[in-house]
Amino acid sequence: MTAAVPEPKANMGQSVPRYDAVVKVTGRATYASDMPLADPAYAFLVTSAIAKGRVDRFDLDDARGVRGVIDIVTHENAPKLKESKLFSNGGYAGTTIEPLKSADIAHDGQIIAVVIAETYESAREAANRVKISYTATAPSATFDSPGTTTAAAKGQNAQFKEDPKVGDFAKAFDEAEVKLTASYDTPTQHHNPMELFSTSCAWMGDNLVIYEPSQYVYGLKNGVAEQLGIDADKVRVVNPYVGGGFGSRGSMTPRTAIIAGIAKRLNRPVKLVPTRDQGFTITTHRAETRHEIKLGARRDGKLIALRHEGAEVSSRPDAYCVGGTKTTTRLYACPNVDSLVSIVRADRNTPGFMRSPPEVPYLFALESALDELAVKLNMDPVELRRINDTTVEPIGGKPYTSRSLMACFDEAAKAFGWAQRSPAPKSMSDGDWLIGHGCAATCYPTQMGPSAARVRLQRDGRTRVEIAGHEIGTGAYTVIAQTAAERLGVPLEKVAVFIGDSDLPPAPVAGGSNSTASTCSAVMMVCDQIRQRLFKAAMPGDSLTDKAKETVGISPAPSTQAAKSGRPPDLDKAFDALGVSIVEEYGEWKPEGAPPDSFRAMHNGQVRLVGGHTMKDQIAYAFGAEFVEVRVNRFTHEIRCPRLVGAFSAGRIMNPRTARSQLMGGLIWGMSSALLEATEIDERTARYVNDNFADYLVPVNADVPGVEVILLSEQDDHINPAGVKGLGELANVGTNAAICNAIYHATGKRIRKLPVRLENIEV
Ligand code: MOS
Repeated sequence: MTAAVPEPKANMGQSVPRYDAVVKVTGRATYASDMPLADPAYAFLVTSAIAKGRVDRFDLDDARGVRGVIDIVTHENAPKLKESKLFSNGGYAGTTIEPLKSADIAHDGQIIAVVIAETYESAREAANRVKISYTATAPSATFDSPGTTTAAAKGQNAQFKEDPKVGDFAKAFDEAEVKLTASYDTPTQHHNPMELFSTSCAWMGDNLVIYEPSQYVYGLKNGVAEQLGIDADKVRVVNPYVGGGFGSRGSMTPRTAIIAGIAKRLNRPVKLVPTRDQGFTITTHRAETRHEIKLGARRDGKLIALRHEGAEVSSRPDAYCVGGTKTTTRLYACPNVDSLVSIVRADRNTPGFMRSPPEVPYLFALESALDELAVKLNMDPVELRRINDTTVEPIGGKPYTSRSLMACFDEAAKAFGWAQRSPAPKSMSDGDWLIGHGCAATCYPTQMGPSAARVRLQRDGRTRVEIAGHEIGTGAYTVIAQTAAERLGVPLEKVAVFIGDSDLPPAPVAGGSNSTASTCSAVMMVCDQIRQRLFKAAMPGDSLTDKAKETVGISPAPSTQAAKSGRPPDLDKAFDALGVSIVEEYGEWKPEGAPPDSFRAMHNGQVRLVGGHTMKDQIAYAFGAEFVEVRVNRFTHEIRCPRLVGAFSAGRIMNPRTARSQLMGGLIWGMSSALLEATEIDERTARYVNDNFADYLVPVNADVPGVEVILLSEQDDHINPAGVKGLGELANVGTNAAICNAIYHATGKRIRKLPVRLENIEV
């Protein structure tokens, strides 16, 4: 086990404790539904018990008779809302399915009525007494269900423009000395953050305040304004703390504008706290996927042909897809590559982002297939990856800005004791337990988005940083505070950070692991504006002005001596010269290569992330290597995972403590995605079966006795001023493959469908 507070190595910040640690462990952090409202009414959702068809009739008499009921809203009397485009098509919404617009039902658990009452209990009781007559039509549930339609993703989804290809795959595969063709399946999964999907709306005249856990306050503000048909400046979204996101709160869901509309009509604040099971259907999820991988290699292990075909389930109206071939076709050197992503439409709610959306399912396929190829070649799987390692991605021929993949493999292999493995399947055991060791690569694109910030420095060193970033548990407060303290040379405890409020300067969606790179780059830039002003005032015409200019960029922080004295050098002098007691600067930062409309889009809550493979002359990814031990009981087939070891490189590590925590959480989630998590769908009814924490399995401490996170030093000057590659979504990629590779090693049987449960084990 590594220490919880790792010693910083080269190009790493200090492992300071979390900025929000005390308020969180003392229960004083105010989550959205904790926000006090004056005389709120309580909403409870009624959701559909069928997946396709229509509501014929509501019988509301019994429900209306419950004491305290104020109103029951159905499609017959719902507030009129405007449409919003899908997030991935330039809009704000996670689905274009509009509940309460008509009697039509497009998916299981769709919102069909909202009960408003004086108390939560009354609303819930009345909701249970709403009687609904449906006309149900047979729904198409998933892959292979009658009535689904399948089409190439290309051209349907604005974010999936091209199926990556290069060379002549068919010819090369035909000629390959060693070939592999294999299919892989991943299940539906739900994010299930601890904080429920609450929404509270309060109007003050024409101004609306929304308290809702969100990963994108500017997106939600603009999206709800669009749906309500009001000016976005009249809407404010507030959420200083968010109890987990994992992608589930990146796009707007239908519930928000509905609650806002009801609150307006009632002229009273309305609070909605949906139940856990409702969260499975009123937001998004990770869709089930299917893959076929074809690999052709020379006897020496060199890949000469690679084809990745993926299929993903989406809803009827929305062509959502994650399209992970953008990554899997670029990860290893290979001259002949082909790929195809398809979308299968079914009668389901629209899927959406879930932690490492493309890479989790698509690298499961690729990293499993590589292990299978290594077996065919009778080669160590680490060596197979070394042989095919590259500094240039094969599709566009662009160099990686930095790539420490094999360094990660070497470090993790050493810590794991990979050299002691006996490679033959079923050759290691301990009593009744077969032991398996497996590994896989992980990678995640380095992404950045335009971001603004406002920083205020007082004469006594007190500093206030304002930026509409999001604390979804990742450490955003902490790294933003560290950045400002370092850059201004003030003590960390003098820095106050304000995030999670759309009245603050805009920051990007807390998604795609871009937050640290984007917000810290913006904060650095604005701190440098302050330094320049101070130096200019203190030393007019002096060379210090030029010196201040030099600090714009990635140069190290001001002297530690300044930090000790509580103020940058000459702070008093500078403030005297300026004749003020506060210096405040606002600035807008955009990454290199950001589109021309970036700043306008930033204010409008539209995402303009750049990076990954979309950069002009380079490609930027963070990398890692993961090794796991599994133990499979030869009689009961029980599967245990006593050890997870990962080594990661992600540019500058702002805070090794919070970084380790992110990566550890990722490894555990990766294990969970292999062995535990799946949302089961009843294929007859297209409904989710295990929509609760009792039946939707997630790991507990006893499932993860050993997790080791190794942070590698890496310096990358090509990505952003902060030098940061995102790592929030890095570690839970590839773990699923590493586990299946280890299960193969333990049992000699390859499992290509997740999750792996004891009934899937053959010994
Ligand atoms: Mo992450 S799934 O991009 O919030």
